[in-house]
Amino acid sequence: MLPPQRRQFDFLAPRSGTANAMPADVTALPAPTDQSALLPTYARAEVSFVRGDGAWLEASDGSRYLDFGAGIAVCSLGHSHPHLVQALIEQGQKLWHVSNLFRIPGAERLARRLADASFADLVFFTNSGAEALEGAIKTARKYHAASGHPERFRLVTFEGAFHGRTLATIAAGGNPKYIEGFGPKVEGFDPVPFGDLQAVEAAIGPETAGVLVEPIQGEGGIRVPPASFLRGLRELCDRRGLLLVVDEVQTGMGRTGKLFAHELVGVKPDVMAVAKGIGGGFPLGAFMATHEAGKGMVVGTHGTTYGGNPLAMAVGNAVFDVLMEPGFLERVADAGLALRQKLAALKDAHPRIIAEIRGEGLILGVRTHVLNSDFAAAARAEHMLVIPAGDNVVRLLPPLTIGPAEIDEALARLERACVRMEAAPPANPETSK
Ligand SMILES: Cc1ncc(COP(=O)(O)O)c(C=O)c1O
Repeated sequence: MLPPQRRQFDFLAPRSGTANAMPADVTALPAPTDQSALLPTYARAEVSFVRGDGAWLEASDGSRYLDFGAGIAVCSLGHSHPHLVQALIEQGQKLWHVSNLFRIPGAERLARRLADASFADLVFFTNSGAEALEGAIKTARKYHAASGHPERFRLVTFEGAFHGRTLATIAAGGNPKYIEGFGPKVEGFDPVPFGDLQAVEAAIGPETAGVLVEPIQGEGGIRVPPASFLRGLRELCDRRGLLLVVDEVQTGMGRTGKLFAHELVGVKPDVMAVAKGIGGGFPLGAFMATHEAGKGMVVGTHGTTYGGNPLAMAVGNAVFDVLMEPGFLERVADAGLALRQKLAALKDAHPRIIAEIRGEGLILGVRTHVLNSDFAAAARAEHMLVIPAGDNVVRLLPPLTIGPAEIDEALARLERACVRMEAAPPANPETSK
């Protein structure tokens, strides 16, 4: 039996005395970003958070925010989930790290559980999504090398994709903004329009190893292809002897109401990358493969210092305990449906602000007529966090544990954000349509 989820709003009660106060140097907002020693690769909002509980975050000034970003789909069980905290503390008192030169029981256990719950037979743990993608790409290439076709190293990829920020994954994602200035682009990725099966077929050549696809494009703007697309890719891969590699870094680990999004359309990949929600906030990822697709990844072909260490595995197993509780994924699907229906009503009430609602489960996108970043700022002014994405969409990626109270609270805040935006002068030409 898992401990019950702590009452979500406990920490919002006013605190008496100073027993829980954080030291001033920790809670104070950092110096203005132009004086920060951090490499300025992010345009950060002027807010910092000091505490979290469930779907709520507390900022350094004591104000509370409803978190429908969950660290970009990472804190899948909300903040400070008691089962995860307990697992982290217990393991932290025993053993943090040993290298992969030794057997790690927590890793064996989580790998077995992931394999038993999915298409996969083999699992390799990483620290991030990009590393999981690197491993998945290497697995696809090595499969063909091990099959006597080392010339097959290219992957068909999709416009609007995002696979991470390493040199190979920026090449796979294809976004020129992320590629330019970083030297020669890593070879071997052939982008075609997302959803276009004919273009995929046309892009296949003698050097093609497989197809790399997000079942739902996340950063691209919660773009959901028709079910026929993923099924068509599976059929095409089978027919042409290619591997189907899916990137479920954002869509996986229960976010769509299925453990993995490809299950929604009844398709089994050969290789998959996951991250984000798998660690619930602890840096953790994995790539997974069938025995056949993983046959090239033998001793010495890949490695990692940290991936799958005892601390990460304790948290990963604890996340999995909760995801696998009877009824958990069904509740995610139900919450997604309820949220989506209420968002559709919000769209009807504010047609000058909201253009479209899309997504599956609790990976939802609100395409706006106003600038999506302005909409996200208006939501933040209502102390609600949402995350901009491509296609002028803001993403709603709340913890998978949200219930009706948080959904209603979110809608009230988004409603106020819409009213705020309607009162503001148009920020881009689309608002005046
Ligand atoms: C679909 C997808 N793949 C890969 C990544 C990269 O993951 P990470 O930032 O952990 O390297 C992301 C991150 O947003 C993602 O959404």
